[in-house]
Amino acid sequence: MILIEETEKDYSKSQYHTKKKFSSYFDKYRFFIISYSSFGAIILILGIVSLIITGAYPCLHTKCNENATCYNTPFYADCVCNYGFAGDGRDHCDECGISYFTQNAIETGIASVPYSWPATGIFEFMYRQLAKVEHQSVLLSDFGACGAVLINRKTALTAAHCVRTEYYYFDWYYGKNYLINVTLNNFHPNLESIYQLYFGINKFVYYFIDLPHVQMADIKEFIVHPNYNKETYENDIAIYHNKAYFAGYGSSGSSYLNLDQYNIKLDVYNNSMCEDVQTNRTKNWNVQFCAGEYDTHGNETGQCHGDYGSPLYVLDEVNGKNKYVATGLLSYDVPCDVEHSPAVFTRISSYIDWIVENSRYYF
Ligand SMILES: *[C@@H]1O[C@H](CO)[C@@H](O)[C@H](O)[C@H]1NC(C)=O
Ligand SMILES: *[C@@H]1O[C@H](CO)[C@@H](O)[C@H](O)[C@H]1NC(C)=O
Ligand SMILES: *[C@@H]1O[C@H](CO)[C@@H](O)[C@H](O)[C@H]1NC(C)=O
Ligand SMILES: *[C@@H]1O[C@H](CO)[C@@H](O)[C@H](O)[C@H]1NC(C)=O
Ligand SMILES: *[C@@H]1O[C@H](CO)[C@@H](O)[C@H](O)[C@H]1NC(C)=O
Repeated sequence: MILIEETEKDYSKSQYHTKKKFSSYFDKYRFFIISYSSFGAIILILGIVSLIITGAYPCLHTKCNENATCYNTPFYADCVCNYGFAGDGRDHCDECGISYFTQNAIETGIASVPYSWPATGIFEFMYRQLAKVEHQSVLLSDFGACGAVLINRKTALTAAHCVRTEYYYFDWYYGKNYLINVTLNNFHPNLESIYQLYFGINKFVYYFIDLPHVQMADIKEFIVHPNYNKETYENDIAIYHNKAYFAGYGSSGSSYLNLDQYNIKLDVYNNSMCEDVQTNRTKNWNVQFCAGEYDTHGNETGQCHGDYGSPLYVLDEVNGKNKYVATGLLSYDVPCDVEHSPAVFTRISSYIDWIVENSRYYF
């Protein structure tokens, strides 16, 4: 018993000593411990608060471009270039609708002032493949060109039907047309390598020709409108005053002889003028419009509407400046010698939401 008591005593004694030791330690560093833990708590609270602010108002600490507006989205500051500008919203917002075209400097129907339509581009399809025709291998090649319009440094619009995934090959020996699918093979590692896109050009250019001022763009991806119909040409993509200017290359249609870029002045027509243009195609004037050359002077130069997918520009006021605004893309037409040469254009303004959604810069 005694022994036990003594042991207990000893134990409590030692415990007392430990407590004493600890409390003296605590006393000694009390100031630091309390200040450290409250400092930590403050840091933690500040961290949580700044996280909430950052999450809810990321624009507070984001620098957008001078010509962009910041929109708060959860944890992401969305820098969107202002009306009349296009770009990534941070590094650059380029002014849209720059044209070196001046109305009194040029007449329509003749070659345009060199490099006067920097946003108009040409989009070339060049294709070679070995294909089986009637159990024989034949080397097939095809070439085509379309117009395009640049809407920001990374995105261009053209007509959906210009993105060719198949074409007809006429075999003289068999006297037959064969539908050839564009397939990827050793000539073409991917579909994009079959296409080239040139901007800032004045002339129609053949593949890999190096010209001053010309920007050659690699095509990364095609986004054809999900509702594009290759039979009816509905949604053939990608406001106005009476006169519109068209910068085409005149390489489509019958004449490949004159390859200068042309300014063609078109009249925007009453839609009824286009009812007979390729009657097998579905017309919907909410998403299309009709334009052409009322006086048929154009049929003599052989230029007419130019390339499919080329933009039709209308003079409009943007931010107090006169700008040529791309309003349509040439979808289909009639031969140039048809009276008033009406043509159906895809109405770009009807596709703004889809274009915005698919032309954003991703980081
Ligand atoms: C913003 O736009 C104005 C007017 O076009 C231009 O003068 C200015 O250089 C632009 N700022 C930037 C940072 O690009
Ligand atoms: C081309 O592809 C389509 C499907 O996209 C197929 O039905 C057709 O048979 C193909 N034609 C040839 C000649 O391979
Ligand atoms: C357009 O054509 C329709 C039908 O032919 C006609 O009723 C309408 O008045 C025309 N509009 C204009 C502005 O000429
Ligand atoms: C529609 O008609 C045009 C000529 O008017 C023709 O080139 C085209 O192949 C036709 N399309 C269809 C799907 O029949
Ligand atoms: C141009 O059109 C007019 C009227 O439609 C026609 O008389 C003339 O023969 C056409 N010219 C050419 C080169 O087709």
